[in-house]
Amino acid sequence: MEEKKTYYVTTPIYYPSDNFHVGHCYTTCIADALARYKREKGYDVFFLTGSDEHGQKIEDRAKKAGVSPKEFVDPIIDNAKDLWKQLNISYDKFIRTTDPEHVACVQKIFKRLYDQGDIYKGSYEGWYCTPCESFWTEAQLVDGKCPDCGREVKLMKEEAYFFRLSKYQAQFEEYLNAHRDLMQPESRYNEMMNNFLKPGLKDLCVSRSSVKWGIPVTFDEKQTVYVWIDALSNYISALGYLSDDDSLFKKYWPADLHLIGKEIFRFHTIIWPIMLMALGLPLPKKVYGHGWLTIDGGKISKSKGNYKDPREFIKDYGADTLRYYILSEVPFGSDGNFSELLMVERRNSDLANILGNLVNRTITMTNKYFGGKVHRLKKVTALDKEVMLELNSLAQDVDDKLEALDIPAALKAIFERLSRLNKYIDETMPWVLAKEEQNERLNDVLYLILEGIRICAIELKPFIPDTAEKIFHMLNTKHTSFAYAKVGLGGFEVVEKPEILFERIDEKALKEKLDAEEKAAEEEAKKKEAEEAKKAKQQPQKAEIEIEDFNKIDLIVGKVLECHKHPDADRLLVSKVDLGNGDIRQVVSGIAEYVAPENMVDRKVIVVANLKPVKIRGVESHGMLLVGEDEELINIITSTCAIGTKVR
Ligand code: MSP
Repeated sequence: MEEKKTYYVTTPIYYPSDNFHVGHCYTTCIADALARYKREKGYDVFFLTGSDEHGQKIEDRAKKAGVSPKEFVDPIIDNAKDLWKQLNISYDKFIRTTDPEHVACVQKIFKRLYDQGDIYKGSYEGWYCTPCESFWTEAQLVDGKCPDCGREVKLMKEEAYFFRLSKYQAQFEEYLNAHRDLMQPESRYNEMMNNFLKPGLKDLCVSRSSVKWGIPVTFDEKQTVYVWIDALSNYISALGYLSDDDSLFKKYWPADLHLIGKEIFRFHTIIWPIMLMALGLPLPKKVYGHGWLTIDGGKISKSKGNYKDPREFIKDYGADTLRYYILSEVPFGSDGNFSELLMVERRNSDLANILGNLVNRTITMTNKYFGGKVHRLKKVTALDKEVMLELNSLAQDVDDKLEALDIPAALKAIFERLSRLNKYIDETMPWVLAKEEQNERLNDVLYLILEGIRICAIELKPFIPDTAEKIFHMLNTKHTSFAYAKVGLGGFEVVEKPEILFERIDEKALKEKLDAEEKAAEEEAKKKEAEEAKKAKQQPQKAEIEIEDFNKIDLIVGKVLECHKHPDADRLLVSKVDLGNGDIRQVVSGIAEYVAPENMVDRKVIVVANLKPVKIRGVESHGMLLVGEDEELINIITSTCAIGTKVR
């Protein structure tokens, strides 16, 4: 017997968060759609998701809550699992980095790399806050002080282990040359080449002695494994790598697809492959770095008031509305805007009008004219032939688009066919055929529409599974698999009463409701701001200064010409800023978490121009960008003044 082909797809493992938002649903929905699609195609699929639970932040939050880190994360993970259930996410395994099997696997990997000389002991340098027991990078400091408690920090070194990334550079580049497919989409390959590989890979710090909530290094009890070796290993620990039972690993590894957001692309396409190379394992076939869902072009954030628990959307509009919108909205590889109003507009136009209406009126007509029963079409007209050709080419079309991981294009192909069927109704006018008692033709027309609906529902199954099931039920058909995705069934006996698939939602009323909510959120934010300002007033301020002190600072409006990620620090962006009069500066800022480098270009910013140049993580920084900062967000202060304007 021929063995089934396997397909292994993963999402990132998520940090435990109280604020899961639609952005988090994005990767998971894509992975789910692909997993469902491949299962339908007969693959033996393994779909992995999970949670990334170690690190200082969790330790701190647990301490604040007065519980152990594990007790702290448990309910958050249950909450995440509940969200995935409500979204119909069909994962095969949910891995937690606190699972004992994962911990054991990571410890073995670390030891193996150490024994073979790929991990060595060195020292890690950073700014240390003694009361918080935390290391900070230069960029994370606020006014040179600890960003958490505001106290003095010291430049300190601690012993740590390093992974020899540099040793594998040549071997990895050679591999990449032969496997350009690894990094998707193509544009990100150039980014990795130019920003990280060409400048030369540096060894990576992979342990900490200052972080206690982590996987202990077995041969050095003072150290814990630092985030990325722990997190990335989940993709193989979940399959039992280095355990007594590694049958899943043998069956599914290497992964066919790691799906991730663009900000963690480097970890997955450089560090992870090199780790695997060092372990002598095959590399994943593809890593796809998708864009972000944004709101008004910015990050989704609780403090911005644009955050809603995705379950609220599911409650109001159903899981399929949310799935459809996020799967069809983000253009291939780039960022896409999320808006509740747009989601509802798309629901009304695509799901209710194009799909729901088509199903509803076709079932109604089939009942009205033939008591719900039609037989196979007998006489094929030129128009029927044209429609049939379009329907019969759908499966291949969807397959091609998904092979290229272009999910919006796959959905578009299906909705084009649905629109074609609506047009076919207008062209054939079944109600006129009924009036003229052209029963044979009427039967053939309804048959072809029902077949079209059935075929489209088969293709829709991976994306909006609940809706597809409802359609199959209404058509009363068992021919719901890809094997039947061509016109050719014997006939239909549909249900008597069609179910409304998507009630239309009143967009005007929703807009009014959302505007009111936004206004209330703004007022709430203003109130909070006023309270905080009051509190801040009561708090000790920085010492008063004379106007001469302020005049020492040269603030100038500049325009960002270029911006890219710091080659060696995730939180930093390196911007080239034009201050006018031929003064072009390079400025390093700790804003990578809050703004994508491409969104910095052309912004007019305010620069502290006479700040002494310093090297930040090996990159020269001459000046500082002014930013506004609250607990969760950093906003870059922009200006409409001309380049070179002095700010006073
Ligand atoms: N724990 C790491 C991943 C380790 S994988 C070995 C992590 N976790 S995360 O919770 O911060 O992010 C998980 C995923 O959610 C990332 O791929 C990230 O890109 C994605 N998203 C978070 N916000 C997003 C949007 N607004 N839009 C789309 N995806 C976004 O990183």
